[in-house]
Amino acid sequence: MKAIEWLGDRVRILDQTRLPQEELYLELGDYQDMASAVVELKIRGAPAIGIAGAYGIALGVLKIEIKSKKEFLDRLRDISHTIASTRPTARNLFQAIDRMQAVAEAGDDVDQIKKALVDEAIKIHTEETEATMRLSQLGAELIGDNFTILTHCNTGPLATGGYGTALGVIIYAGEQGKRLKVFATETRPLLQGARLTAWELKRANIPVTLITDSMAGYFISQGKVDCVIVGADRIAANGDTANKIGTYTVAVLALENGIPFYVAAPTTTIDPSLASGKEIPIEQRSREEVTHIRGVTIAPDGIEVANPAFDVTPHHYITAIITERGIIREPYGEGMKRVVC
Ligand code: MRU
Repeated sequence: MKAIEWLGDRVRILDQTRLPQEELYLELGDYQDMASAVVELKIRGAPAIGIAGAYGIALGVLKIEIKSKKEFLDRLRDISHTIASTRPTARNLFQAIDRMQAVAEAGDDVDQIKKALVDEAIKIHTEETEATMRLSQLGAELIGDNFTILTHCNTGPLATGGYGTALGVIIYAGEQGKRLKVFATETRPLLQGARLTAWELKRANIPVTLITDSMAGYFISQGKVDCVIVGADRIAANGDTANKIGTYTVAVLALENGIPFYVAAPTTTIDPSLASGKEIPIEQRSREEVTHIRGVTIAPDGIEVANPAFDVTPHHYITAIITERGIIREPYGEGMKRVVC
């Protein structure tokens, strides 16, 4: 299964909105289609969004027919702007866009720049894959035999285009022979846990129990969970972490009940320019995602709705942040400087 794949002049993605009922692959030929696929969550998860953004830019520039570098860079800026407008919280997206921009500015001739941009997008994908494999190996050291782990949202190969972050750690620990059980929260409103995490864990042969988000406190307080591990969409310089809405609630439950709360993310998710989580932009999504479940309305017409896609967990709730360059603990400010080059 490949969540996203470069095919030379188009990109193949597995449409995550159709899972688990249907494994439907889509081929995207231009950057606007890629931008729409990201907004519609056909491809999602911060690292996968970064990869999709880079490939989207590559698709866009391949269609530019201008020969002047200045005009080419103007067109590239428009394409990058469209890509950047898709998912504001995912740090990996902006990291990828900045890398693509730097490569374009460094080149001389437009044809050479186009080739360099395609190469850079492939490199971003390769590096993210390697980073998620490495952080999964490192993080697996924190997982003991017979552990029951609670995870929120979806952080496996689908979300990363690689091995996974939180789910990568769990899958790797399973491959080491550790006997594990996982509680996967359904993750309202869009059910990434029920649809995608449950699907990925079943494929990995790791026993998984699906619970609603509101059941987390019940199982944690009964001593049924050894640790919580989640991914991240953006991590500020002090360790404050934005992740799927509901993550903060689970972090508070973990501290209250004395179990570790781990965050797993590649260093491309860290945003050293933000001093704290208060500065992280939070994506607000449509009201229909809350009033409807898979097209069926569940709320009265015209009801007031709020739909923030992410929340911020303050760093003091986080036991450790697992990256491909090492596991960081308090004081996070110093650890962050060590792993971000
Ligand atoms: O809205 P989504 O489905 O893109 O949200 C995904 C998450 O919140 C993940 O936990 C996060 O991106 C880390 S993915 C490895």
